Amino acid sequence: MAPATASLISAYATGYSHDLLTNTLLATRAPVLVCPAMHTEMWDHPAVQDNLQLLKRRGVVIVDPEDGRLAGGDIGSGRLASTERILTQVEHLLSSSSSSPQRDFSGLNVLVTAGGTREPIDPVRFIGNRSSGKQGHALAEEAHARGAVVTLITTTQLPTSPAIISVAVDTAQQMHDAVMSRSSTADVIFMAAAVADFTPSQIATQKLKKRDGAPKLELHSTVDILAALGSCKSEMQTLVGFAAETRDVQLNAEQKLREKHADLLVVNDVAAPGVGFEFDTNEVVILSATAEHQFVPMTDKRSIAAAVLDAVLSTRMAQQLAPSLGE
Ligand code: CTP
Repeated sequence: MAPATASLISAYATGYSHDLLTNTLLATRAPVLVCPAMHTEMWDHPAVQDNLQLLKRRGVVIVDPEDGRLAGGDIGSGRLASTERILTQVEHLLSSSSSSPQRDFSGLNVLVTAGGTREPIDPVRFIGNRSSGKQGHALAEEAHARGAVVTLITTTQLPTSPAIISVAVDTAQQMHDAVMSRSSTADVIFMAAAVADFTPSQIATQKLKKRDGAPKLELHSTVDILAALGSCKSEMQTLVGFAAETRDVQLNAEQKLREKHADLLVVNDVAAPGVGFEFDTNEVVILSATAEHQFVPMTDKRSIAAAVLDAVLSTRMAQQLAPSLGE
């Protein structure tokens, strides 16, 4: 139900069926998702919150509203959740039902990194990059929808399905520690994050002041997480790297695939229109250490994720590692 008003939520909670919608709610055996939308004062009212708790206890999924501009022009909490968040929850409900068509990642533990790391300069400034994390999140959602147990190590606040184990990190070092402490149990690792290559050697404890002049930043190299994973990769593991290039795309990517001992490397030319960072679309080449390279033409990031997962399964089949063959 989107949008679900305070009145509709109250009727549903008490079982009051007076029209087609409330009759259907009482009659259905299907999972139900409720997306409340109302004024802040109504949303905060204990009667509304108690009704929602009651519905939750009965197994109804509530997609909480967001803060923002409301129908009356005022600003506060109670704004209907974004379409993206609602669809993520719908997808999760459908994928956890037995009718989900493709469960070819069942039995696999998948680790995904997403977003750009932030390297602090002082308490308010950092060195960052333009990665949005959308491709990494799409990979996590796709792997989850196809039956994997997914851990997502992310620098972003993007919504995720509740069943995905989400670990928040900020810096390259934190991402390294989070990945390395979980990597030994992962069957497939997607390093989709844009990890900073350099980080400030000193972090100022107080905000740097303009009046003191431009600071001289000394940087040192971060650990290359993908290379570290590649150097201790087990035979059961499939390691997938990502690369955003602006020139000599294929040449640079082939070098990274080789040097970091990845099984697959997904490369995009971020100088091309509609490709990479903030866009919802992407166009990639999936390079393989053992098979033909595959071009995936411009499409949405979820479809790119599906193609990358297909390539992982082909690689694992070739190595006799697919769940149905070896595990
Ligand atoms: N990567 C990583 N740790 C780093 C840097 C990169 O794990 N410190 C991973 C990325 O997550 C990605 C792959 O390595 O999967 C390639 O990242 P990219 O930034 O394209 O390559 P670099 O090796 O950093 O080389 P360059 O920036 O010079 O192109």
